[in-house]
Amino acid sequence: MKHFITICMMVVCSMTANAQQTPIYLDDAKPIEQRIDDAIARMTLQEKIRVIHAQSKFSSAGIPRLGFPDFWTDDGPHGVRPDVLWDEWDQAGQTNDSCVAFPALTCLAATWNPDMSLIYGKSLGEEALYRGKDMILGPGVNINRTPLGGRNFEYMGEDPYLASTMVVPYVQGLQSMGVSACVKHYCLNNDEEYRHQVNVVVSDRALHEIYLPAFKAAVEQGKAWAIMGAYNLYKDEHNCHNQYTLNKILKGDWAFDGVVVSDWGGCHDTDQAVKNGLDMEFGSWTNGLSAGTSNAYDNYFLATPYIIGIQSGKYTTKELDDKVRRVLRLFFRTTMNRNRPHGFLCSESHYEAARRIADEGIVLLQNKGNILPIDRNKAKRILVVGENAIKMMTVGGGSSSLKVQREILPLEGLRQRFGNDVVVDYARGYVGDVSGEYNGVTTGQKLKDNRSESKLIAEAVEKAKNADYVIVVGGLNKSDYQDCEGHDRKQYELPYAQNRLIEALAKTTKRLVYVNISGNAVAMPWKDKVGAIVQAWFIGSEAGNAITDVLTGDANPSGKLPFTWYASLNDCGAHALNTYPGTWRSAKDKSAGFSKIIDEEYKEGVYVGYRWTDKNNIKPTFAFGHGLSYTTFSMSNLRQSAKEMTRDGKLTFTVTVKNTGSKRGAETVQLYIKDIKSSVDRPVKELKGFKKVWLEPGEQKDVDMTIDNNALAYYDETTGTWKSEDGEFDALVGNASDNIMLKSRFMLK
Ligand code: GLC
Repeated sequence: MKHFITICMMVVCSMTANAQQTPIYLDDAKPIEQRIDDAIARMTLQEKIRVIHAQSKFSSAGIPRLGFPDFWTDDGPHGVRPDVLWDEWDQAGQTNDSCVAFPALTCLAATWNPDMSLIYGKSLGEEALYRGKDMILGPGVNINRTPLGGRNFEYMGEDPYLASTMVVPYVQGLQSMGVSACVKHYCLNNDEEYRHQVNVVVSDRALHEIYLPAFKAAVEQGKAWAIMGAYNLYKDEHNCHNQYTLNKILKGDWAFDGVVVSDWGGCHDTDQAVKNGLDMEFGSWTNGLSAGTSNAYDNYFLATPYIIGIQSGKYTTKELDDKVRRVLRLFFRTTMNRNRPHGFLCSESHYEAARRIADEGIVLLQNKGNILPIDRNKAKRILVVGENAIKMMTVGGGSSSLKVQREILPLEGLRQRFGNDVVVDYARGYVGDVSGEYNGVTTGQKLKDNRSESKLIAEAVEKAKNADYVIVVGGLNKSDYQDCEGHDRKQYELPYAQNRLIEALAKTTKRLVYVNISGNAVAMPWKDKVGAIVQAWFIGSEAGNAITDVLTGDANPSGKLPFTWYASLNDCGAHALNTYPGTWRSAKDKSAGFSKIIDEEYKEGVYVGYRWTDKNNIKPTFAFGHGLSYTTFSMSNLRQSAKEMTRDGKLTFTVTVKNTGSKRGAETVQLYIKDIKSSVDRPVKELKGFKKVWLEPGEQKDVDMTIDNNALAYYDETTGTWKSEDGEFDALVGNASDNIMLKSRFMLK
């Protein structure tokens, strides 16, 4: 009997013990690092290999035996891409994957409001969750180095401080939903032409002061869980497996604990992928847009070839285990996070977020005679002209192309707002690109118009004669060689004879408004013949509503340019120094495939954007940080918390901003720092602080901006460290880089 009782007790104990012994890797209460240790100890070599490369166009394997789900990614930075077929780029034709298109990131940057980035990241994260995506392939933070750059619309402008400040809340918001960001394209992917073959040659100083900061901020402050390597090369190594940028800088200096994901088709070699920092290989043998080798997943560089390398003793599992630990960490942060919310798709809150971001990002560039906002008492007839008033912009542009539930177009938005008490007439004005399809998603628009250019212009001019307002909605679009991935623009001028149209209309009416839809600056030779100019970006589902909000004054514009609006291409350093698109290593390489290299030397160094125009006394059409309002503001009484600053200290600048006009509005106070005397050549001034403030008419507020030593330091190439030098500095405060109103000197001791 006694033995029987003992055995029963042992059985009961072992049962309860077993019941308690949830494996550590499945125990939410255990620290992630312990769970990783436990999980990796249980994995077979095959399982380890399967999780570090794709199994379909946009997914990689989980570990079914241990209960880890597959891992799903999707584009893109401003909306969740429609589901594609398992191994095709073409869309799967689902009926439940239409999304909200948020404003492209150039518009987000133009809000100069980090709160908008947080709302953006959270809303996008909710859409991603609902769609079953564990990682969004964005945001993009490559610096706008040339206004021809095909993907600048996906990025956050020319200034590293603005991009750094705006990217962090986006990453935090997105990841707060348990959806990983994948900050791209790391690094130096600043234009699209020959993007798989460009080897960027750039000084260490420009690399660290201009091109890396936004990625560094996303990692160190945003705590990004993933980074996407870029296609191009740096120091002759492809950026998806690059000893210097990935192992030394990202995983070494910045202590990045996440996953390096290849761009689609960015991995080229097993040995380099094993040793130079790649953790998840996607899209091999594709150009990232269309072609590809079908179902090649076992042949991926980090698949069978890697197993063979390990089994033959060429590699230990040292690098593999590091990759797997990072991927497991990503799993525990996403697919294995049982507290993740469910998310939701196309909710009113997402449309509101998209509209708010758009309302705050649209930039009023010019407003002669205060022609805007439209005076409803004067407006009996409004003529809208231009293809961009009726053309959907959410389809096309490359991998960021979307299938939206709705996209309100400019003409539509104006007509809805004005209803029947104002006639909103339309004239095509010009014909640009009448196509509307990408990867099987079609706009369904019938834009074909065979009329000649002169007939189109004549019609617009005729209709303009008896219109109270003429609103041209033009600019670029998402077609190849426009604002589109894979290529850059071939010209800085507006395409499709828009200049002739605008010139003709300017002769007909003084009440001419030009609305530019693009992610890049364009030449505006007719600028002084036009009343108002509005930069309306690619703002997605709510485009027509937000543009109407601003044109009618329902929203008081508060956007500021995130890049310099050059008068001509040669006012830009990259072009003035003839560096673009680069020099082929040998003449015969031009027609070659990926294996031939084109060296693109960033000869302008740190002098990108306003840093270049300041240095060379070039007057841009519109300056970095420029943006008007329907009200007016004053800035006064700049004071600082001390006359001197120590290296480990901080300094706070306070300025009083007052709304001296009659409408509620927002002003963005910008703080630039000038090093009066330094041992290296430094830009005239550099943005090191900004604050957007909303004020009622007559209201004033004190705005504080605090800097630390980082705001004064430059990257010293001789020591490979950041260095600030004792001496005098100026704090320059204004509301645009070309409108500094206050100045205050201080010392660094
Ligand atoms: C594309 C793009 C990248 C995108 C990826 C997947 O080529 O370069 O931004 O996320 O491939 O579509």
